[in-house]
Amino acid sequence: MSLIAFDHISKSYGGKVTAVADLQLSIDAGEFMTFLGPSGSGKTTTLMMLAGFEKPTSGSILYDGRPIEKLPPWERDMGVVFQSYSLFPHMTVAQNVAFPLEMRKTGREEIRRRVSAALDKVRLFHHADRRPMQLSGGEQQRVAIARALVFDPKLVLLDEPLSALDKNLREELQLEIRRLHREVGVTMVFVTHDQSEAMTLSDRIAVFNRGRIEQLGPPEQLYDSPANAFVAGFIGDNNRVSGTVVSVDGAEATLKAGDRMFRGRMHPGQFAVGAEAGLSVRPEAVRLDQSPTDTPANRLTACVIDIIHQGDHFRILVRPDLGGAETAPWMIKLQPMQKPEALTVGGTVTIGFRPEAAWIL
Ligand SMILES: Nc1ncnc2c1ncn2[C@@H]1O[C@H](COP(=O)(O)OP(=O)(O)OP(=O)(O)O)[C@@H](O)[C@H]1O
Ligand SMILES: [Mg+2]
Repeated sequence: MSLIAFDHISKSYGGKVTAVADLQLSIDAGEFMTFLGPSGSGKTTTLMMLAGFEKPTSGSILYDGRPIEKLPPWERDMGVVFQSYSLFPHMTVAQNVAFPLEMRKTGREEIRRRVSAALDKVRLFHHADRRPMQLSGGEQQRVAIARALVFDPKLVLLDEPLSALDKNLREELQLEIRRLHREVGVTMVFVTHDQSEAMTLSDRIAVFNRGRIEQLGPPEQLYDSPANAFVAGFIGDNNRVSGTVVSVDGAEATLKAGDRMFRGRMHPGQFAVGAEAGLSVRPEAVRLDQSPTDTPANRLTACVIDIIHQGDHFRILVRPDLGGAETAPWMIKLQPMQKPEALTVGGTVTIGFRPEAAWIL
């Protein structure tokens, strides 16, 4: 059974701004669920309604099968971690972590035991007597996570907890949160606008856009089978051409862009012949072949605009030749071994991709 169910939840501010619109979403016990989306898409509002800091305008939220709209935040059995560290500056690390237990009138000895266990979990036992000011940003967030876990809640909510940290530290803490989720087995709901963070952490991702969920599914499903152009553009890199659908057969379709024809997968029924649509293909799915001997579909010529060395791979920027029609440059990712010696900026190359690797969206 699901631990949480949002049932037709909407939230508007002052009757004007609709922050969340008719949300339907279930979260399973033990799951790592991420709300991913651009700024202003309703992620925080949704999380705050779950935590009890915001009231839904309509709809209901079930927690373990019971409606919780009327429960104040402190009666909801949820740990919360915010973006800013929100630790009490005048208290030590141990006192900060003990706070939720003090509020719950837990006994002295039990508090001591649980605080040590929680600090152990985030590997900060040796800093128990420091004050927040004496810790790095990453350490402060680990204290906040320990504080959210210390009373053994069923659910932990995290709103962009890593966004103030630099890239290396952020990636290190992502792995730490992944490990904690696995070890503790607690249900986590995590908010981010960083798609790679969402991919790293989540069992399932809900992609938010303008107060609605565009797609809900495991990371690999969102990447390999995006529901629409918004999701394809938001998760992973994505090359695109716009055109007109000229033929449809079941789960494949043909798109005409300029004087070129492209074949790709299509969600059955999404477009009819004559519809305006776009073709999306991932950079790693585009092959670059200067002397083609085979004749795959979706083959075209392109002009090389730039060659960027990224260490572990090359990014080749090309402008596809659509016979007059304009398109933004495409990016192709190549392993160093795949990069032809003769590739030069200003040169012409043949590029191609399999229809199964492209989507008409
Ligand atoms: N207290 C408020 N009063 C009026 N409008 C609000 C309020 N809080 C949020 N909004 C609006 O609701 C919408 C959703 O906001 P929300 O904070 O949920 O977005 P978000 O997805 O968390 O964005 P971000 O990534 O920037 O944190 C936005 O248009 C925002 O301006
Ligand atoms: Mg937010």
